[in-house]
Amino acid sequence: MLKPIVAGSAAAAALLTLGAGVQWAAASDEHISPVAFVDQFEATAGKYEGYRRSGAKGICATGEFVGTAEARALSTASVFSGEPVPVIVRFSVGGANPHAPDNVRGQRNMALQFDLPDGERWQMGNISAPIFSASTPQQLFALLASREPDPETGVPDPERIRAFNEANPEVLLMGRYLASQRVPASYGSVNYWGVSGYGFINTDRAVQYGKWVFEPTSGVQGLTDEEAEALGPDFLFDELRQRVAEEGVAFDFNLELAEPGDNVDDATVPLPEGREKVKLGTLKVTSVSEDAGGACLTITFNPMIMPEGVKPSADPMLPARAAPYAISLSRRLTEGAKQQ
Ligand code: HEM
Repeated sequence: MLKPIVAGSAAAAALLTLGAGVQWAAASDEHISPVAFVDQFEATAGKYEGYRRSGAKGICATGEFVGTAEARALSTASVFSGEPVPVIVRFSVGGANPHAPDNVRGQRNMALQFDLPDGERWQMGNISAPIFSASTPQQLFALLASREPDPETGVPDPERIRAFNEANPEVLLMGRYLASQRVPASYGSVNYWGVSGYGFINTDRAVQYGKWVFEPTSGVQGLTDEEAEALGPDFLFDELRQRVAEEGVAFDFNLELAEPGDNVDDATVPLPEGREKVKLGTLKVTSVSEDAGGACLTITFNPMIMPEGVKPSADPMLPARAAPYAISLSRRLTEGAKQQ
């Protein structure tokens, strides 16, 4: 049974006060209830009824994936057969705000569901940074809590943020990376990383761990600040429709291979520079929804749903995502699912 974390239950606990006035402890080994997690997303980032509690502003698309012989040597997964596989795609801007501007630097997402033979599926959510902002669910929960607006002032307490950052410097790395990149010119012109490690299992049952990245075949394209300003806050959906219709959008699905001793279990740590990269296949985006509907609307892109031949690393972020995603789905569906 899921139960609230009892304050003071572990020495290293960071005490957090949630909306209901209950104290919660985010110790490094404590289980965080998925309901508390989604409540914390809402308390920190705002509650937008009907929308995803993260990646709220998004659009559905469809695509097709074809795997390579190199991928078949690494994994028995049917996704790599070389036959075209249908894919449901969702592109989004990071965060809980469904009105988030498209023309500022920050996180973009590409979530995928590969529909495989015999009812198998592969779901994943990829982000436009090579690292995530927390290495454990407890750290993410405490990070969000540190940014929750103070009920008295209506804004987050800068002292609390400073203290949290000082004790957890790795939480700043993802934001720093995103701030160093130009505003993406298109959902189809930016790299999307999986950030967590997975194992690829071949016919000999040998496991090769790695981290993946989807790289646009036409290259990464960013905007100058002036270009971004001129395009305004809502250009990405129409730009994608036009790009797919006129020149096409495709990504190489590449796997960086881990070597013995590499850390594949921490989403805040990329693999060392220069690791061998293997092309697993090509994802082509074939159509983009004309409106806020589409097959992606009711999917959560749960990173624990994967085909035979692929397995999760020990990264604790992977299993921690499934239940909060389901809670977010149940809330947005009962509120009336929306995304634009
Ligand atoms: C314990 C850790 C995490 C929690 C609790 C969490 C929570 C959430 C929630 C509640 C949603 C909305 C789900 C929905 O309504 O369908 C979401 C979406 C998303 N998350 Fe996470 N997240 C976590 C970690 C991560 C990590 C490490 C990544 C990095 C790849 C990530 C990438 C995404 C993406 C790309 C989406 C949007 C997917 C879409 O288009 O639907 N999340 N997350």
